[in-house]
Amino acid sequence: MANTVVSLFSIVLLCITAAQGRKTFHLNNVWPTSYAAINDVDGICTTMVETQGYTCEEHKVTTEDGYILSLQRIPVGRSGEKADKPPVLLQHGIFSDASTWLVNSPDESLGFILADNGYDVWLANVRGTQYSSGHTSLNPNDKAYWDWSWDELASYDLPAFVQYVYNYTGQRMHFAGHSLGTLMALAALSQGQVLNMLRSSVLLCPIAHMNQITSLPTKLAADIFIANDIYWLGISEFNPSGGAGSKFVEDICNKLNINLSNLESLVTGPNCCLNSSKPDVSSEPTATKNLIHLSQMIRKGKIAKYDYGDQGQNMKHYGQPVPPFYDMTAISNEFPLFLIYGGQDKLSDVNDVQVLLNDLKDHDKNKLVVLLKEDYAHLDFVSAVNANQMVYDPMMVFFKNN
Ligand SMILES: *[C@@H]1O[C@H](CO)[C@@H](O)[C@H](O)[C@H]1NC(C)=O
Ligand SMILES: *[C@@H]1O[C@H](CO)[C@@H](O)[C@H](O)[C@H]1NC(C)=O
Ligand SMILES: *[C@@H]1O[C@H](CO)[C@@H](O)[C@H](O)[C@H]1NC(C)=O
Repeated sequence: MANTVVSLFSIVLLCITAAQGRKTFHLNNVWPTSYAAINDVDGICTTMVETQGYTCEEHKVTTEDGYILSLQRIPVGRSGEKADKPPVLLQHGIFSDASTWLVNSPDESLGFILADNGYDVWLANVRGTQYSSGHTSLNPNDKAYWDWSWDELASYDLPAFVQYVYNYTGQRMHFAGHSLGTLMALAALSQGQVLNMLRSSVLLCPIAHMNQITSLPTKLAADIFIANDIYWLGISEFNPSGGAGSKFVEDICNKLNINLSNLESLVTGPNCCLNSSKPDVSSEPTATKNLIHLSQMIRKGKIAKYDYGDQGQNMKHYGQPVPPFYDMTAISNEFPLFLIYGGQDKLSDVNDVQVLLNDLKDHDKNKLVVLLKEDYAHLDFVSAVNANQMVYDPMMVFFKNN
């Protein structure tokens, strides 16, 4: 069963790559020259936070590699009382943005719940998402703008967000990430980055190891391998009306009978507790390189930097012929961690989480909270109508203790 799930995920990842590639390039055609204007009139504060009666501030930070990213801050709860607890930085996962913390009602959405409980809430948006599409010299129409994977999200975007909030508030903060947002934190923490500015970290559906790939049926593995290589070519020659690369992957998806409109539950697992009367949230673009990097992790079962697939290129980027590993055992044993995962989750599946927990086996027992929610899948942790009791209440107890 686990193998089927993982192989399915690999294929689906490629199918998404295809779909996403189209979307990204479509968006590129209509990308406004100045996103700042849109941000002010039509940003997350205006459309999702103030509409619920909350105060909201738009902030911007520029990363060391030139990406101009947006953050939203909710500094006051509904009671009108200013936050009297530390800042909390919320980091969304792949294909989403800060709206992920705001889609349900104020009593159900983490962004609002934290503000109502006296926390100073900061919402991050990574590069490439619609409200973080600025750059000091590039724009999303440039291929170079999309030349990144989660390596850069961990080494540039996350440190920029954390440093900005730390500078602005003068306080160390709690962090909570979902899905790829947890990998950003784990990668940064394993390298000792941002540690001195954080009080603790919450990992909702942690993504770290994706080891199951070793037992993939050979044929499927071969298909994925080929599809990846072809996709590489597809990038450099991408043609909005459908280049050879995207066509090839689309054919695989069609042959495997994967219904692209059912992708969400195929990828995330059967979410138990979403509000079915809420409209679907639109998905945000990501770099194709980011998806290839994730496929590499599945294929190799290792957490390593992006593999250029060529010793010369790897030498050039890393000074060694193979990409360096991220060592999860290097995370400081005294750093407070709250890890919660779902029994139905296909992305952050229980076996892979066990491997991560094994890496953390020497962690100070008083500094590590681990919870399993048997009936939850990937999206329940941010969107379930009962996540307030199941996830956010214990999370706030953890914050209080740390
Ligand atoms: C934080 O403050 C330091 C010192 O003033 C400054 O050098 C740095 O650029 C600031 N970083 C951010 C992200 O605001
Ligand atoms: C794909 O799924 C959608 C939504 O569930 C459904 O309406 C559609 O008929 C399906 N298409 C195929 C080819 O099965
Ligand atoms: C589901 O969403 C609808 C529309 O926003 C809302 O009226 C309803 O109260 C929600 N249900 C739950 C259980 O939160």
